[in-house]
Amino acid sequence: MVNTTLQLTPQLGLSDEVRLGLADIFKRLLADEMVLYTKLRNYHWNVTGPTFAMLHELFEEQYTELADVIDDIAERIRQYGVMAPGTLAEFQQLARLSEHPGEYPDARTMVANLVADHEALVRTLRENEETMDDDYEDVGAQDFVTGLLQRHQKMAWLLRAHLEGGAA
Ligand SMILES: [Fe+2]
Repeated sequence: MVNTTLQLTPQLGLSDEVRLGLADIFKRLLADEMVLYTKLRNYHWNVTGPTFAMLHELFEEQYTELADVIDDIAERIRQYGVMAPGTLAEFQQLARLSEHPGEYPDARTMVANLVADHEALVRTLRENEETMDDDYEDVGAQDFVTGLLQRHQKMAWLLRAHLEGGAA
């Protein structure tokens, strides 16, 4: 008879402390990504002004990319044998990025807000990478986090270029 308790805990060569610590890092990241995803959809719907068409499309490209990122993060949490948070209530509790309900900034401020969020995520991901290096060593997680950092850095630049051109 197979011991199902053993079977249900992934045998990844990680201690429980590391496995659960990594899952916690990814839960908070997932929540931040959900906040940014929602903000991008909000701005996609509500952007106005002469740069409407360009930004409407750019915001859609970014939330489409984040949908992919969000799925990868949630599925990574599951790979550590932990349930992924999947409710707005939990995301709100776990997220570090903030929302501004009822506010509809002008196009330039929308872009600036999104740049700030992407860059905050880049800094968080850099810290997460360091934590993994020091305490939660898992080469798979470090590689994944580095990939996310690069994606957010690029998305931040795509938006920042609008601000620097003075167009948005
Ligand atoms: Fe749309």
